[in-house]
Amino acid sequence: MTTNLVHNAVVHNQPEGGAVWVTTTARPGAAELVVENTGAALPPDLVATLAEPFQRGTERTRSDHAGAGLGLAIVDRIVRAHDGTLSLAARPEGGLRVTVALPAPSR
Ligand SMILES: Nc1ncnc2c1ncn2[C@@H]1O[C@H](COP(=O)(O)OP(=O)(O)O)[C@@H](O)[C@H]1O
Ligand SMILES: [Mg+2]
Repeated sequence: MTTNLVHNAVVHNQPEGGAVWVTTTARPGAAELVVENTGAALPPDLVATLAEPFQRGTERTRSDHAGAGLGLAIVDRIVRAHDGTLSLAARPEGGLRVTVALPAPSR
């Protein structure tokens, strides 16, 4: 799941001078992973569809990446299998912010 999100953050970034931020947070009862990257501006209605199978963005920033559009759909299934939530948000400056929230294991 994490590899997939970080890979996306790299290959769907701007061609040069892009940045990726990975943050983890743990607090009682919950753990959170945030993967955020620079890139082209993404319309919110497009972002809402990106986790659907075979759904790819319209603009390719890196021609050497020929994905099938399944990565985020698989990530979504993994998150759901662990009773978590996946949130995608367009960054106002361009690029994407992906948040995975997972319940912490009960003791
Ligand atoms: N971190 C990201 N930044 C910008 N766009 C992204 C990011 N992750 C995914 N996307 C967009 O969502 C689409 C679907 O992602 P994904 O399911 O992983 O498919 P793939 O990477 O194979 O194209 C991508 O084609 C891209 O347009
Ligand atoms: Mg992908």
